[in-house]
Amino acid sequence: MKKRMAVTLWATMAVSLLSAQVRKEIYLNKGWSFQRGDIKGAEQPDFNDQNWQKINIPHDWAITGPFDKEIDKQTVAITQNGETIPSEKTGRTGALPYIGVGWYRTTLPKESLAGRRASIIFDGAMSEARVYINGKEVGFWPYGYNSFHFDITPFLGVEGENVLAVRLENQPESSRWYPGAGLYRPVRLLFTNETAVVPWGLSVTTPVVSDSLAQISIKAELNAHQNKKLRAVTTVLDQKSHVLLTKEANLVWRGIPIEENLILERPALWSPERPALYLAKIELYDGDRLVDVDSVRFGIREVKVNAHGGFMLNGKSRKIKGVCLHHDLGPLGAAINKAALKRQLLIMKEMGADAIRTAHNMPSPWQMELCDELGLMVMAESFDEWKAAKCKNGYNRFFDQWAERDLVNLIRCHRNHPSIVMWSIGNEVPEQSMDGGNRIAKRLQDICHREDPTRPVTIGMDRVDNAIANNFAALLDVPGLNYRTHRYQTAYDKLPQGFILGSETASTVSSRGVYKYPVQPYQQKTYPDAQSSSYDLESCSWSNLPEEDWELQDDKPWVIGEFVWTGFDYLGEPTPYDQVWPSRSSYFGICDLAGLPKDRYYLYRSKWNQEAHTLHLLPHWTWPGKEGDIIPVYCYTDFPEAELFVNGVSQGRIKKNPASKLDRYRLRWNKVVYQPGTLKVVAYNENGAIAQEREVHTAGKPTGLRLSADRNQLIADGVDLSFITVEVIDSEGNLCPDAAVPLSFTVEGSGSFKAVCNGDATSLEPFHIPQMKTFNGKLVFIVQAAEKKGAIRVKVSGAQLKSERMALEVE
Ligand code: GAL
Repeated sequence: MKKRMAVTLWATMAVSLLSAQVRKEIYLNKGWSFQRGDIKGAEQPDFNDQNWQKINIPHDWAITGPFDKEIDKQTVAITQNGETIPSEKTGRTGALPYIGVGWYRTTLPKESLAGRRASIIFDGAMSEARVYINGKEVGFWPYGYNSFHFDITPFLGVEGENVLAVRLENQPESSRWYPGAGLYRPVRLLFTNETAVVPWGLSVTTPVVSDSLAQISIKAELNAHQNKKLRAVTTVLDQKSHVLLTKEANLVWRGIPIEENLILERPALWSPERPALYLAKIELYDGDRLVDVDSVRFGIREVKVNAHGGFMLNGKSRKIKGVCLHHDLGPLGAAINKAALKRQLLIMKEMGADAIRTAHNMPSPWQMELCDELGLMVMAESFDEWKAAKCKNGYNRFFDQWAERDLVNLIRCHRNHPSIVMWSIGNEVPEQSMDGGNRIAKRLQDICHREDPTRPVTIGMDRVDNAIANNFAALLDVPGLNYRTHRYQTAYDKLPQGFILGSETASTVSSRGVYKYPVQPYQQKTYPDAQSSSYDLESCSWSNLPEEDWELQDDKPWVIGEFVWTGFDYLGEPTPYDQVWPSRSSYFGICDLAGLPKDRYYLYRSKWNQEAHTLHLLPHWTWPGKEGDIIPVYCYTDFPEAELFVNGVSQGRIKKNPASKLDRYRLRWNKVVYQPGTLKVVAYNENGAIAQEREVHTAGKPTGLRLSADRNQLIADGVDLSFITVEVIDSEGNLCPDAAVPLSFTVEGSGSFKAVCNGDATSLEPFHIPQMKTFNGKLVFIVQAAEKKGAIRVKVSGAQLKSERMALEVE
């Protein structure tokens, strides 16, 4: 056994050495120069960029601000929000300076080019990218969210230096949210031999999936001379690089993708609960010479939707517990970072979510890799706009010429991710109610089917009646409804599919740690402090509370699940305060912009997380001056029943009540009279036995700080991150729930300060300066590992508080 493993390992090492010779990918993350402005001649190789800013990518030129309401002040009617009369809006795109031109330049690493092909691959560039090599334009890609690549072989000089320059431009009024700016995702160079698999050319599908066997179909599209004779060795490996299957075939390249089919017995199927992955590898030989080795990770799983089973993964019906995610990472802006993406996904998984929707655009490959590994299903979306404008300078300018190319790239780049279970061709496009809109939908869906016959296609629809009347909704694989819970039944009755997906749900608004009185449901409610209440009873004129979605999912077998708007707050779209300054980020998040859970997190967790119990009380219990006032108390729990006590005095033992919308999923004590002291809840299980208890105490004066890091050990790669939550506490260790204390941060040793965020949508403090006020007693600051191993020493200080230190390891 040992011997076999050693042989396998040796074989794998030998192959990777060979593959390094035949195919080489270089991640261009370092050594870039950056400058804002429309700079004449910046594409020329001899242009002097010495005074430009030296940066690494991923990079977002706008995230350091400053916030300024003039940047995105617009007088518009947001028709998606049902507005007909224009009004002045601020903060719609985050009030950050993303508009304008930015240039990036770098020198490409030297590489022997004789007989080689070179491609440059962008995982996304914001936006209207013009790519130049040695002063010559290589290509243009307008859509800022998509991945694209160009063959740059003819542009490279064989001798000397090759200079890459990228010009990006963001138009005003081009987005409904903060899009970010710059080379915010990785850029890679790929060198191959003349005969090779093309970029994104390897694809794996699993046409037959069962517990006993899976058919694995591996296809490869090549760059090769017509009629070239080749030998292909196709291999399937497990996650530990053990070879499971292998096949060899002689072929003649005739321009049609080569295909090999292998049968794997007793496959481990991919699912959110058990995300099993495999590797498919192809080696191409020209005679005895190995000319290319390409490989791709994949999963074995089957996705089906139909009227009988609804949404089915591996033959089992399940209701999707999904969240919509915008692409920005709060204080890091749009510049992606694997540790930050992973933290977001882990927070959602811990809540019990099993899916994400990449609203409203193409995801990054890194995010999809993480979804594969962690086990999150994905609705991968493409467009927020087709031909009809939502924003004056939005994607509508490019739709006619680019929509097909954009969809093709989305699918070719991402088709091997088992996490992706459906494509979305749009979100709330006005074409739903326009003549010919259904023909566009059909065309886009057909493109998806042509490129990938294995996944269903959806659209998020908000104009339900129109979309039903003109057959727009009927032609979709998956009819997705955004909000409009009152139209679900009609849509189900009138549409042929026999099921409905909540493609976008809830849009409940709240600010972490903010509680408003009197407590009652509101729509479009605003308060003078530009915050929303965390009793989770406030939504928009078009949206609803979580319970309204859950009632549908629980009572109607044909509702196949939901994607809640949104998992995290994001920059821009500060509804219901889009006419109020300052407010520059959203209130929709289940977590705030810093990634800190709001109360709503525990409401979803109580319903979604089947692995662990939830017992959460709100509000906090520190209300000086409100002694004797009524402070309603809510408990979010999966237990059916609980008793509440204030300083030992029972406030009643209550059960969830399926007959009342709000009492079906929450436990509410609406008449609790506030007295400082201890609020305690005792939860009972189905058998009436005490299951768990939780206490909240009235806090005293702030005296100190508590630090907790999401990760205490980082990798010495110069990019890894730790997110450290800081809480202001009293002498007993209670959170001071309204503390607004200015803090400062010092980071020494093998790392540096990266950013800080307190989750307050009205804060104009910059994210990149190591000081910030806590918001309702908390904030999160981010520390980045250096490239050297050692310790990171962190110190957090605030006036009249005991400073707190923490050490992290970098390995
Ligand atoms: C939806 C839209 C989202 C977001 C949301 C806010 O209609 O699809 O992008 O704007 O409203 O509630």
